[in-house]
Amino acid sequence: MKIRQFRYSADNLGYLVFSKDTGVAIDAGAVADMTGFAQEHHITIAYVTNTHLHHDHISGNAQLLEKTGAAFLDCRDFSDKQKIQLGREALTVLTTPGHTHDSVCFAADDFLVTGDTLFNGTVGNCFSGDLEAFYHSLKKLTAFAEDTKIFAGHDYVTESLEIAEAIDPDNPDIRQYREKYDPALVVSTIKNELLVNPFLRFNAPAIIKKLEQRNFSCHTEKQRFLSLMEAF
Ligand SMILES: [Fe+2]
Repeated sequence: MKIRQFRYSADNLGYLVFSKDTGVAIDAGAVADMTGFAQEHHITIAYVTNTHLHHDHISGNAQLLEKTGAAFLDCRDFSDKQKIQLGREALTVLTTPGHTHDSVCFAADDFLVTGDTLFNGTVGNCFSGDLEAFYHSLKKLTAFAEDTKIFAGHDYVTESLEIAEAIDPDNPDIRQYREKYDPALVVSTIKNELLVNPFLRFNAPAIIKKLEQRNFSCHTEKQRFLSLMEAF
Protein backbone atom coordinates (compact mmCIF):
# COMPACT_ATOMS: atom_id res chain seq x y z
CA MET A 1 0.00 0.00 0.00
CA LYS A 2 1.33 3.44 -0.91
CA ILE A 3 0.46 6.90 0.31
CA ARG A 4 0.88 10.36 -1.17
CA GLN A 5 0.46 13.51 0.92
CA PHE A 6 -1.19 16.67 -0.46
CA ARG A 7 -1.00 20.00 1.34
CA TYR A 8 -3.87 22.48 0.97
CA SER A 9 -5.17 25.65 2.62
CA ALA A 10 -2.78 26.94 5.24
CA ASP A 11 -1.81 23.71 6.95
CA ASN A 12 -4.25 20.94 5.96
CA LEU A 13 -2.89 17.60 4.80
CA GLY A 14 -4.89 15.19 2.63
CA TYR A 15 -3.93 11.79 1.25
CA LEU A 16 -4.26 9.43 -1.64
CA VAL A 17 -3.75 5.86 -0.43
CA PHE A 18 -3.39 3.38 -3.26
CA SER A 19 -2.53 -0.17 -4.16
CA LYS A 20 -1.30 -0.50 -7.73
CA ASP A 21 -3.99 1.28 -9.78
CA THR A 22 -6.77 1.69 -7.18
CA GLY A 23 -6.92 4.42 -4.57
CA VAL A 24 -8.93 6.06 -1.82
CA ALA A 25 -8.85 9.82 -1.29
CA ILE A 26 -8.85 10.83 2.37
CA ASP A 27 -9.62 14.48 3.20
CA ALA A 28 -9.26 15.46 -0.44
CA GLY A 29 -9.09 19.25 -0.20
CA ALA A 30 -6.33 19.38 -2.82
CA VAL A 31 -8.60 18.22 -5.64
CA ALA A 32 -6.55 19.38 -8.64
CA ASP A 33 -3.25 18.10 -7.24
CA MET A 34 -4.79 14.77 -6.33
CA THR A 35 -6.51 14.14 -9.65
CA GLY A 36 -3.36 15.27 -11.48
CA PHE A 37 -1.24 12.81 -9.53
CA ALA A 38 -3.79 10.01 -10.02
CA GLN A 39 -3.92 10.62 -13.75
CA GLU A 40 -0.15 10.76 -14.11
CA HIS A 41 0.24 7.47 -12.22
CA HIS A 42 -2.78 5.74 -13.81
CA ILE A 43 -4.58 5.40 -10.49
CA THR A 44 -8.36 5.20 -10.35
CA ILE A 45 -9.75 6.99 -7.30
CA ALA A 46 -12.39 4.42 -6.35
CA TYR A 47 -13.42 5.96 -3.01
CA VAL A 48 -13.57 9.34 -1.31
CA THR A 49 -13.68 9.45 2.48
CA ASN A 50 -12.71 11.52 5.50
CA THR A 51 -11.07 11.24 8.89
CA HIS A 52 -14.00 13.25 10.32
CA LEU A 53 -16.51 15.75 9.02
CA HIS A 54 -14.97 19.09 9.99
CA HIS A 55 -15.43 21.50 7.10
CA ASP A 56 -11.75 21.83 6.24
CA HIS A 57 -11.49 18.05 5.81
CA ILE A 58 -14.55 17.61 3.58
CA SER A 59 -14.04 20.72 1.42
CA GLY A 60 -12.93 18.71 -1.64
CA ASN A 61 -15.45 15.86 -1.42
CA ALA A 62 -18.15 17.15 -3.78
CA GLN A 63 -15.76 18.29 -6.50
CA LEU A 64 -13.67 15.12 -6.37
CA LEU A 65 -16.74 12.87 -6.43
CA GLU A 66 -18.05 14.75 -9.44
CA LYS A 67 -14.71 14.60 -11.25
CA THR A 68 -14.01 10.92 -10.61
CA GLY A 69 -17.35 9.18 -10.15
CA ALA A 70 -15.83 7.55 -7.04
CA ALA A 71 -18.02 6.09 -4.30
CA PHE A 72 -18.38 8.16 -1.13
CA LEU A 73 -17.68 6.39 2.15
CA ASP A 74 -19.24 8.42 4.98
CA CYS A 75 -16.94 8.14 8.00
CA ARG A 76 -19.98 8.11 10.33
CA ASP A 77 -20.96 4.74 8.85
CA PHE A 78 -17.64 2.99 9.47
CA SER A 79 -17.28 0.27 12.08
CA ASP A 80 -14.03 -0.52 13.84
CA LYS A 81 -11.65 -2.74 11.82
CA GLN A 82 -13.77 -2.35 8.68
CA LYS A 83 -11.73 -2.92 5.51
CA ILE A 84 -11.54 -0.72 2.45
CA GLN A 85 -10.50 -3.05 -0.35
CA LEU A 86 -8.04 -1.53 -2.84
CA GLY A 87 -7.27 -4.19 -5.44
CA ARG A 88 -5.62 -7.05 -3.58
CA GLU A 89 -4.82 -5.03 -0.49
CA ALA A 90 -7.06 -3.58 2.19
CA LEU A 91 -6.88 -0.49 4.35
CA THR A 92 -8.27 -0.92 7.87
CA VAL A 93 -10.55 1.66 9.49
CA LEU A 94 -10.02 2.37 13.19
CA THR A 95 -12.80 4.17 15.03
CA THR A 96 -11.04 6.76 17.18
CA PRO A 97 -13.57 9.05 18.89
CA GLY A 98 -12.27 12.00 20.88
CA HIS A 99 -11.46 14.95 18.63
CA THR A 100 -15.02 14.43 17.36
CA HIS A 101 -17.43 11.54 17.92
CA ASP A 102 -17.08 10.53 14.26
CA SER A 103 -13.25 10.61 14.04
CA VAL A 104 -11.61 7.63 12.38
CA CYS A 105 -8.05 6.70 11.44
CA PHE A 106 -6.84 4.40 8.67
CA ALA A 107 -4.19 1.72 9.08
CA ALA A 108 -1.98 0.08 6.44
CA ASP A 109 0.96 -2.23 7.13
CA ASP A 110 3.45 0.50 7.85
CA PHE A 111 1.50 3.73 8.23
CA LEU A 112 -1.49 5.35 9.88
CA VAL A 113 -3.60 8.25 8.59
CA THR A 114 -4.58 9.94 11.83
CA GLY A 115 -6.61 13.04 10.90
CA ASP A 116 -7.05 15.42 13.83
CA THR A 117 -6.72 12.64 16.43
CA LEU A 118 -2.93 12.45 16.50
CA PHE A 119 -0.70 15.12 14.96
CA ASN A 120 3.05 15.15 14.52
CA GLY A 121 4.04 16.60 17.88
CA THR A 122 0.66 17.03 19.54
CA VAL A 123 -2.90 15.69 19.66
CA GLY A 124 -6.17 17.22 18.50
CA ASN A 125 -8.58 19.28 20.57
CA CYS A 126 -11.20 17.21 22.34
CA PHE A 127 -14.27 18.79 20.73
CA SER A 128 -16.41 15.73 21.59
CA GLY A 129 -15.87 16.42 25.29
CA ASP A 130 -15.15 12.70 25.76
CA LEU A 131 -11.56 12.70 27.01
CA GLU A 132 -11.79 9.11 28.14
CA ALA A 133 -12.66 7.98 24.61
CA PHE A 134 -9.82 10.17 23.31
CA TYR A 135 -7.39 8.45 25.68
CA HIS A 136 -8.46 5.00 24.47
CA SER A 137 -8.23 6.11 20.84
CA LEU A 138 -4.67 7.34 21.33
CA LYS A 139 -3.76 4.07 23.10
CA LYS A 140 -5.15 2.22 20.09
CA LEU A 141 -2.80 4.17 17.79
CA THR A 142 0.31 3.92 19.96
CA ALA A 143 -0.17 0.14 20.16
CA PHE A 144 1.03 -0.05 16.55
CA ALA A 145 4.67 -0.96 15.85
CA GLU A 146 7.05 1.85 16.75
CA ASP A 147 8.27 2.34 13.17
CA THR A 148 4.68 2.87 11.91
CA LYS A 149 4.54 6.22 10.11
CA ILE A 150 2.08 8.90 11.23
CA PHE A 151 0.36 10.96 8.54
CA ALA A 152 -1.81 13.58 10.24
CA GLY A 153 -4.55 16.01 9.17
CA HIS A 154 -2.57 19.23 9.67
CA ASP A 155 1.00 20.42 9.76
CA TYR A 156 1.22 21.86 13.26
CA VAL A 157 4.80 20.74 13.81
CA THR A 158 6.50 24.07 14.54
CA GLU A 159 3.97 25.31 17.10
CA SER A 160 3.60 21.82 18.62
CA LEU A 161 7.32 21.57 19.27
CA GLU A 162 7.29 24.97 20.98
CA ILE A 163 4.61 23.69 23.35
CA ALA A 164 6.46 20.40 23.82
CA GLU A 165 9.60 22.34 24.74
CA ALA A 166 7.70 24.49 27.23
CA ILE A 167 6.25 21.39 28.92
CA ASP A 168 9.32 19.19 28.67
CA PRO A 169 12.33 21.59 28.36
CA ASP A 170 15.05 19.03 29.05
CA ASN A 171 13.83 16.52 26.46
CA PRO A 172 16.79 16.10 24.05
CA ASP A 173 14.64 14.38 21.42
CA ILE A 174 12.68 17.55 20.62
CA ARG A 175 15.68 19.16 18.92
CA GLN A 176 16.29 16.07 16.75
CA TYR A 177 12.61 15.92 15.83
CA ARG A 178 12.74 19.58 14.76
CA GLU A 179 15.82 18.98 12.62
CA LYS A 180 14.06 16.15 10.77
CA TYR A 181 10.94 18.25 10.07
CA ASP A 182 10.35 18.85 6.36
CA PRO A 183 7.22 20.80 5.35
CA ALA A 184 7.37 19.10 1.92
CA LEU A 185 6.56 15.75 3.58
CA VAL A 186 5.20 15.94 7.09
CA VAL A 187 5.60 12.56 8.75
CA SER A 188 6.84 11.01 11.97
CA THR A 189 6.64 7.57 13.57
CA ILE A 190 5.00 6.14 16.67
CA LYS A 191 8.49 6.02 18.18
CA ASN A 192 9.11 9.74 17.44
CA GLU A 193 5.76 10.63 18.99
CA LEU A 194 6.36 8.63 22.14
CA LEU A 195 9.71 10.41 22.54
CA VAL A 196 8.47 13.95 21.90
CA ASN A 197 4.66 14.41 21.92
CA PRO A 198 3.91 15.59 25.48
CA PHE A 199 0.30 14.36 25.37
CA LEU A 200 1.52 10.78 24.82
CA ARG A 201 4.31 11.09 27.40
CA PHE A 202 2.05 10.55 30.41
CA ASN A 203 4.53 8.00 31.78
CA ALA A 204 7.66 10.17 31.39
CA PRO A 205 9.09 11.12 34.82
CA ALA A 206 9.68 14.76 33.79
CA ILE A 207 6.04 15.13 32.71
CA ILE A 208 4.70 13.46 35.86
CA LYS A 209 6.85 15.79 37.98
CA LYS A 210 5.50 18.82 36.13
CA LEU A 211 1.90 17.69 36.72
CA GLU A 212 2.59 16.97 40.39
CA GLN A 213 4.10 20.43 40.86
CA ARG A 214 0.83 21.89 39.58
CA ASN A 215 -1.25 19.60 41.84
CA PHE A 216 -2.86 17.64 39.02
CA SER A 217 -4.04 14.04 39.53
CA CYS A 218 -1.25 11.66 38.61
CA HIS A 219 -2.06 8.24 40.06
CA THR A 220 -2.95 6.40 36.87
CA GLU A 221 -1.87 6.75 33.28
CA LYS A 222 -5.38 7.79 32.29
CA GLN A 223 -5.51 10.44 35.03
CA ARG A 224 -2.21 11.82 33.82
CA PHE A 225 -3.50 12.04 30.25
CA LEU A 226 -6.65 13.84 31.44
CA SER A 227 -4.47 16.16 33.54
CA LEU A 228 -2.18 16.91 30.60
CA MET A 229 -5.16 17.77 28.40
CA GLU A 230 -6.53 20.03 31.10
CA ALA A 231 -3.22 21.68 32.00
CA PHE A 232 -1.80 22.49 28.56
FE1 LIG B 1 -10.95 18.66 13.00
